[in-house]
Amino acid sequence: MCGIVGYIGNGKTKNILIKGLQNLEYRGYDSAGIALSDTKNVTIIKEIGKVQRLVNKIKKTKVKDQEIGIAHTRWATNGSVSINNAHPHQVGKVTLVHNGIIENADKLKKELITKGYVFKSTTDSEVIAALLDNYLKTNSEEEAIIKLLKELQGSYALAIIILGNNYLYAIKNHSPLVIGDGKNEKYIASDMPAIASYTSKFFLLNDLEFAKISKEKIEIFDNLGKKINRKATNIDVTQDIIDKNGYQHFMLKEIMEEPTVLKNLIDSYLDKLDELDISKYEDVHIVACGSAMYAGMIGKILLEEKANVNASCEIASEYRYKKNNYSNKTLVILISQSGETADTIAALRIAKVNKQDTLAIVNVKNSTIDREADKSIYIEAGVEVAVATTKAYILQVAILALMAYVTAKRKSLLDGDENIEILNNFKKIPNLLEEVLKKEQLYKQIARKIYKNHDIFFIGRKLDYAISLEGSLKLKEISYIHSEAYPAGELKHGTISLIEKNLPVIAVMTDKSVKAKTMSNVKECEARGARLIYITTDALADTKNSLQVVVKDTDMLTQTLLVVPTLQMIAYYVALFRKCNIDKPKNLAKSVTVE
Ligand code: G6P
Repeated sequence: MCGIVGYIGNGKTKNILIKGLQNLEYRGYDSAGIALSDTKNVTIIKEIGKVQRLVNKIKKTKVKDQEIGIAHTRWATNGSVSINNAHPHQVGKVTLVHNGIIENADKLKKELITKGYVFKSTTDSEVIAALLDNYLKTNSEEEAIIKLLKELQGSYALAIIILGNNYLYAIKNHSPLVIGDGKNEKYIASDMPAIASYTSKFFLLNDLEFAKISKEKIEIFDNLGKKINRKATNIDVTQDIIDKNGYQHFMLKEIMEEPTVLKNLIDSYLDKLDELDISKYEDVHIVACGSAMYAGMIGKILLEEKANVNASCEIASEYRYKKNNYSNKTLVILISQSGETADTIAALRIAKVNKQDTLAIVNVKNSTIDREADKSIYIEAGVEVAVATTKAYILQVAILALMAYVTAKRKSLLDGDENIEILNNFKKIPNLLEEVLKKEQLYKQIARKIYKNHDIFFIGRKLDYAISLEGSLKLKEISYIHSEAYPAGELKHGTISLIEKNLPVIAVMTDKSVKAKTMSNVKECEARGARLIYITTDALADTKNSLQVVVKDTDMLTQTLLVVPTLQMIAYYVALFRKCNIDKPKNLAKSVTVE
């Protein structure tokens, strides 16, 4: 999983490629590289680590700009993080960058070795380059690409330079790829924002299609070589200003933006609530990955409890391979910040093959999920840079809460007073959240107490358990502390054996219906020496000097929006004290475009 860029034109190729890579770094930052071609020679520069390191290397080498170039930022899948495994890969006449995974690479590699090919890397991408080079020995370029499409199994977005040519090829199958059209210059990228400052005219390739791209024109072909007459789509991609705004990290800046984006979202939807009414459906499947899935878990509980909707919430990488039973009227909701997560895209396609209605809750407009779902709801988070999602997650939860509210209202499940109370709470939440975020000193104090630990537990029941899952994920992804979230009542069935003296246990106790029950489980932990930290809605009197975060008590639909940010803040300060790379944690990527 990676980001790719390509450029052909009279412009500043190096700068365009580098800017593109910087915009695509959310797809991975294990290594980066560029290739520049003057049609007779291809110069390749690669570097381990983030794009900035590549930029420094390019500056040092003073490489000449050319009219043709491709570039890549990598999230390692096949093969370790090394210079040899960094893209572009060059074999014979072929230089390419690849995003995806080739499933039959081992078999193809063996065959190519018998033909005399020697491999420098352990990647599947170099195998594609060798295979194409081999086909080019006895075939025209178009024929060779058609053969490649027939032979490769798996996912791939490719940008290719063939030595001696003054054009580029782009190929796509199950990995995102767009082509930008400019006057006497053309662009290739994994997503539109990477090249949106140069053009708003895009050609979108379907799976198993390829394009031959010169400075002047873009020709698109299907996998049999038949020319496709496709028109460009005009899409204005908003270019948000990406700036830390004085904060040390994007993550903190994005947490601090939560009250504003939440207010905008709530204000705008209170005027058009009907758009969120799903009362005509018999059941709802919520499908997503990572934090988006944890937001979905909250949505499932709210839809069930408040709107009497049969709802399930599933991990997309499971949903895509299991048997899913649909009712006469099922709605499949896909949640994705990026709109490009491979497993979520696959789940969406499965729902469509099964002729189910699909609804996307996305941030990035014109992303694959946005384009392919029947309907989309935009969370309008703006750009989220930190790999660990915060504001986008909160907005996903807010949309689902509003959905549960309007559906309950439509089904006459709320009496007048309750309706008014919930509505007022939605309006008050942004200000209340601002107060929650002001307690920085308390979050720091908690973080200071736990940042040296190796294990941390989160416990809670129902909504508090779903909140714990997100709190624990945030903590482990940015601080690298092992952490687990457990349903409080389940602890005694095995996991309690791990509770020992001084182990921090963060007890989330905001749901009144189960607070007393969770308290019993807290006592069981305390009895075994655990150090308790409470996240609660009313101050606990007898807490043996444990730290507690108290947030305002609202109602079931809005409560989570105040509670999760406390855990985001604790995770942030723990990672800060541990001197971690908060915005770009190791091994992670913001958008995971492989399965
Ligand atoms: C990655 C990110 C997570 C995110 C998940 C789903 O794993 O690191 O923060 O929740 O992908 O991403 P999506 O773009 O589909 O919301």
